[in-house]
Amino acid sequence: MKKEMFCSLFLSLFLSLFWVCVSVLLLFLFLTHTYTHTHTHTHTHTRMCYYTEAKYFEDIFSFTLVYSLLLCFSSGVLTQELKNPKPERNSYIAASYVKTLESAGARVVPVMVNQTEEDYHRLFNSINGIFLPGGGAHLMTSGYARAANIFYRLALEANDRGDYFPVWGTCLGFEQLLVITSGENLLCRTNTSGVSLPLEFTQDATESKLFKDFPPDLMTALATENITVNFHKWSISVENFTKSEELRTFYKILSTNTDGKIEFISTMEAYDYPVYGTQWHPEKNAFEWRRPYYPHTQSAIKTTFYMADFFVNEAKKNVHSFATEEEEEKHLIYNHNPVFSGSSTTSFIQKYYFK
Ligand SMILES: *[C@@H]1O[C@H](CO)[C@@H](O)[C@H](O)[C@H]1NC(C)=O
Ligand SMILES: *[C@@H]1O[C@H](CO)[C@@H](O)[C@H](O)[C@H]1NC(C)=O
Ligand SMILES: *[C@@H]1O[C@H](CO)[C@@H](O)[C@H](O)[C@H]1NC(C)=O
Ligand SMILES: *[C@@H]1O[C@H](CO)[C@@H](O)[C@H](O)[C@H]1NC(C)=O
Repeated sequence: MKKEMFCSLFLSLFLSLFWVCVSVLLLFLFLTHTYTHTHTHTHTHTRMCYYTEAKYFEDIFSFTLVYSLLLCFSSGVLTQELKNPKPERNSYIAASYVKTLESAGARVVPVMVNQTEEDYHRLFNSINGIFLPGGGAHLMTSGYARAANIFYRLALEANDRGDYFPVWGTCLGFEQLLVITSGENLLCRTNTSGVSLPLEFTQDATESKLFKDFPPDLMTALATENITVNFHKWSISVENFTKSEELRTFYKILSTNTDGKIEFISTMEAYDYPVYGTQWHPEKNAFEWRRPYYPHTQSAIKTTFYMADFFVNEAKKNVHSFATEEEEEKHLIYNHNPVFSGSSTTSFIQKYYFK
């Protein structure tokens, strides 16, 4: 009697286990199928969009993607005041930022400092994202800060309406984002003005919007090799970031670093908006040469490209455009030529200067 009961119990257990396995397998098959299907669909859809945009190149298949991006996408890069302005040289953009975005298929529109609100609104509705570059400008009183504030507010309002408009800040731009979001300056001095470091990723990094599609070998390189350039005197400490309700609830920390004493945030992305920032300089690896610690290894160069690729793809989700082709051509960076810094001691190898 006992033996029989034991046997039937064993049998029913075995059978349940069997059916659980079968169900899991079926679910798995179903999900992979759906995933592949969605994936293919999105891809086709994306390409269709560009076919429509890129009428003229429809038949040159291998060039379609490249040309179409050039045709339908542009990203604004904010200029900065010069410390010693001249009549013809009032503001600048380091060419490495422009090259970085161009390398990922974007066309660049310089966003000049000290324009009227109306000018900025019009420009906002004509471009597909805003990039706040590194450099040196006052985070409260400069024309750089004013323009960054206006574009940040417009971007948040647009995103709330379902008009996807990404914002990126590198170094000074990253610090500017922190100051705008928190409404105060919570930065502290760190010993980080000239050092390449590996990123200390948080647990959130691998599932983040920014890093989730990075190849695993690049993530390993980023975590172990000295390939992120730090060129800043100010940082946001993990301590001050965590204390600030505004920052803590708006941004997710993706990586940190330390100067030996203070742990600071090196990469972040907003939870609910396409707003991203790095305290380090992705663009220097591929395009700057003036300091011995700028890394140029294969993984360092890939870092530049994958970061650019991410942001440019974010901007491709936006559909703003200039009213006319003439208007668009008038604004493109191609109206300006970068200048080689030559024997000057500046850390930038080439700059665009603006009146
Ligand atoms: C922009 O305005 C600020 C503040 O008035 C001023 O300091 C700066 O020199 C101006 N920059 C340019 C390029 O006109
Ligand atoms: C925190 O922010 C304050 C400014 O509000 C600054 O004076 C201080 O140095 C910062 N401390 C740390 C540890 O970051
Ligand atoms: C700053 O960091 C560098 C290494 O990056 C180190 O050589 C230097 O001693 C540090 N300076 C201070 C004041 O801690
Ligand atoms: C990275 O740089 C530090 C000094 O800043 C050095 O001690 C370390 O060996 C370097 N690591 C690699 C992998 O090159």
